[in-house]
Amino acid sequence: MTTNALKVETGNWIEVVALEDIPQLGSRVIRTDTMNIAVFRTAGDEVFAMKDECPHKKGPLSQGIVHGTSVTCPLHNWKIDLASGEALGPDEGCTNVFPVKIENGIVHVDFQNR
Ligand code: FES
Repeated sequence: MTTNALKVETGNWIEVVALEDIPQLGSRVIRTDTMNIAVFRTAGDEVFAMKDECPHKKGPLSQGIVHGTSVTCPLHNWKIDLASGEALGPDEGCTNVFPVKIENGIVHVDFQNR
């Protein structure tokens, strides 16, 4: 699901979505003025944010399957580590990840390094 585009300043924590609005083992897509960000929620309610673009051929990682703390790209099944954005196994590549914190049930993302 997609929300309205956010205009974000660098170096700021931005409220992006309520934790309860992200399905467990799923994601929400946050549209910013420069890219789409996928915000993932694990079975253990850990939350990770990364550019919604596979390092292989730009597949939409938000539509992948979350397992543990990684996501499998829906296009060619690369597995991407949610914490580092690195491809796992024999594949090589990395997508941008962003720091996340949860306050009062609201997920905040720091876009400093986008
Ligand atoms: S685009 Fe993600 S595995 Fe190919």
